[in-house]
Amino acid sequence: MKVSVIGAGNVGATVADVLAQGDFLKEVVLLDIKENYADGKALDMWQTAPVRMSDTILTGVTNDYSATANSEIVVITSGLPRKPGMSRDDLIGTNAKIVKSVTENVVKHSPDAIIIIVANPLDVMSYTAFLTAKISKNKVFGMAGILDTARYRAFIATELNVSPKDIQALLMGGHGDTMVPLPRYTTVAGIPLTQLMAKDKIDAIVDRTKKGGGEIVKLLGTSAWYAPGAAAAQMVEAIVKDQRRIFPVCAYLDGEYGLKNVFLGVPVILGKNGIEKIIEIELNEEERADMDSSNKAVREVMVVLDDMKIL
Ligand code: LAC
Repeated sequence: MKVSVIGAGNVGATVADVLAQGDFLKEVVLLDIKENYADGKALDMWQTAPVRMSDTILTGVTNDYSATANSEIVVITSGLPRKPGMSRDDLIGTNAKIVKSVTENVVKHSPDAIIIIVANPLDVMSYTAFLTAKISKNKVFGMAGILDTARYRAFIATELNVSPKDIQALLMGGHGDTMVPLPRYTTVAGIPLTQLMAKDKIDAIVDRTKKGGGEIVKLLGTSAWYAPGAAAAQMVEAIVKDQRRIFPVCAYLDGEYGLKNVFLGVPVILGKNGIEKIIEIELNEEERADMDSSNKAVREVMVVLDDMKIL
C-alpha cells in the first residue's frame, strides 16, 4: 500500500511519521512545495526506521506529483495554519486555491485514490476538494471529528483522573466553534458520563473542546500538529486495514440528517472503500438545534467560497 501526504509542515510530517511508525504500509511519499523540505524530513524519518524497526519506505519530493502516482490514499495537509487571533474561516482566501490546485494534481496521478483533507476551514476545504476531484462522495472526506473527540476525551480523562482509553464519545458538526460534542453519547467504560460528572463540569469541558484548537494556537502561536497528525493517520489505518471503525468524519451529506450538499462531521463506518456508511443517530431538540447552527456556520463560509469563483 502506498500513501502520499501532501504538505510536509507540522501536520503533514506528523501524519507521515505516525504512519511510518505504524509499520503497516509499503511506502509513504511526502511532498512539499518548498525546495528540499519534504526530502529532508522524509530522509530524517527514514533514518528512524532501523531504530523503530519499521519497513515502511519514506520518500520526500519537492512538488513532484509523479512520485505520488497510484497512491491508494492521499492526505492533503497543504495550506496555511492559524495565527493567534485568526479563526479557521479567515484562511479560506488562501487555502481554497491551494487545496484546489493540490487536488487537481493528486487526481491526475492517482485517479483511484481516497482523499483525506486536513486543511482549514476544514468542512469547506473538504467541499472544495470534492468539487475539484469529481470522485465519489465516499472517497473524499475530512479529518476533524477524531481530533475534536480526542480533545474532548482527553479533557474528560483528566477531570475524572481515569485512562483516556476508557472514554468513548461522539462529537458532530463542523470543525469550528459550533461543533457539537454530545455528552448524551459519551460513556466511561460503558457508564454514562452524566452519572460521573456534574452538569457544570460537563458544560465547561464541552466549551473547552469547542475552543480546543484555539487554545493551542494561543499557546504556540500556530496550529496544533501532534493530535491532528495522529488522528489523520488513524483514518488511514482504518481504511488500509479495512477495520470498519466508527469515527466522526467530515462527510458529504446527501439527505442524511435532513441536510444536503454540505460537508459536516457525522459518525461513519470507515473501511476499504472509504466511507462505507453514514450512521444516523437520534438527536434531541437541543442537539438538533446545535447541529443546525453548525450547518448554518459552514454554509456561510461556503458562500465565501462561491464568491471566490474558483470552482
Ligand atoms: C486544530 C486545527 C488543526 O483544531 O484546526 O487544531
